[in-house]
Amino acid sequence: MSSQKKVKIRSVGKYVPDKVLTNDDLTEWLDTSDEWITSRTGIQQRHISTVESTADLCTKAAHEALKKAGVAAEAVGLVIVATMSPDAQSPSVACTVQANIGAAQAMAFDINAACSGFVYASSVAEKMLSASPYQYALVIGGEVMSKVVDWQDRSTAVLFGDGAGAMLLEKNSDTHSFIGEDIHADGSRGRSLVSGETALENPLTIKREMNPYLQMSGRDIFDFVIRSVPKNIRTVVEDNGLDLEDVDYFLLHQANARLIKAVSKKLKQPIEKFPQNIQYFGNTSAASIPILLDDLIERGDIQLGSKQTLVLTGFGGGLTWGSLLINL
Ligand code: ACO
Repeated sequence: MSSQKKVKIRSVGKYVPDKVLTNDDLTEWLDTSDEWITSRTGIQQRHISTVESTADLCTKAAHEALKKAGVAAEAVGLVIVATMSPDAQSPSVACTVQANIGAAQAMAFDINAACSGFVYASSVAEKMLSASPYQYALVIGGEVMSKVVDWQDRSTAVLFGDGAGAMLLEKNSDTHSFIGEDIHADGSRGRSLVSGETALENPLTIKREMNPYLQMSGRDIFDFVIRSVPKNIRTVVEDNGLDLEDVDYFLLHQANARLIKAVSKKLKQPIEKFPQNIQYFGNTSAASIPILLDDLIERGDIQLGSKQTLVLTGFGGGLTWGSLLINL
């Protein structure tokens, strides 16, 4: 690999809306309980947007990442937003963020791989950046899941939260953070999680009613994760000449604390290597991994440039799943 083709993580930032909804708050209109939600999912509260759009959350996370790095938005050549809750079909969230932050030189587009979106977007950004003339790329996972869930459906409404996390990638000559990846999709099982379905409607068709809200077979996805994710993590680590013991932290998509525990058990790795913040944020879909990464950096558990080894793993709608092996 020639110089100036290597891509490293330069900084990370996050933003969540101020408004917090606790499990007890949800019992005001849902037949649920703090005990059920905490014991089945690990979630205690979630942040919910009252006025801010997906682009607003992503813009604030992007500002945070740029500020931490001391990099001007004009130097960014690529903005990718991973989201399954965009504000519109057009313009993309990424284009709105590009305008909001003033990244006038950047190309910008969205990726939808549901809860695997941040892993997919990072994979694409790393390759585009290393092949481009630009120095910096912003990869953002951002969601306002509160606008896609049915707030009367207790089986999904209790799970999700809003937020955004942004990662600034830098092309440089000494450090390449992206050691390997193993990323998959199985569209044949796509009906296990459906959201935002729109009916074909034109003068030639009879209008069909469709449920626009997120519908999920939680049990199907739970089983799929237990079968696919441990194998996926093992593959990305071992195919790149490492052992699971060489990995400092496994940052899994924050969907369910029981799922994370089951994956740690299957891999025979201590649960301490699987950090969690689902108790505070719920499932923020494509935003969960960068929000967790930022939390760990803020806590000092992870230091950029430290040569720590991480696995970032997403899984969810599509169905999609995948892992990145990262050397900081
Ligand atoms: N409060 C009280 N009871 C509830 C609630 C609730 N909020 N929700 C469901 N129940 C009830 C059900 O009605 C059911 O009752 P029944 O036995 O009388 O029929 C019972 O609790 C058990 O329901 P299950 O769905 O079997 O509960 P489970 O233990 O599977 O937990 C959960 C559900 C939390 C959704 C779990 O299956 C899960 O986490 N799945 C994985 C989700 C995931 O990872 N998604 C991918 C990412 S999302 C994305 O891509 C956007």
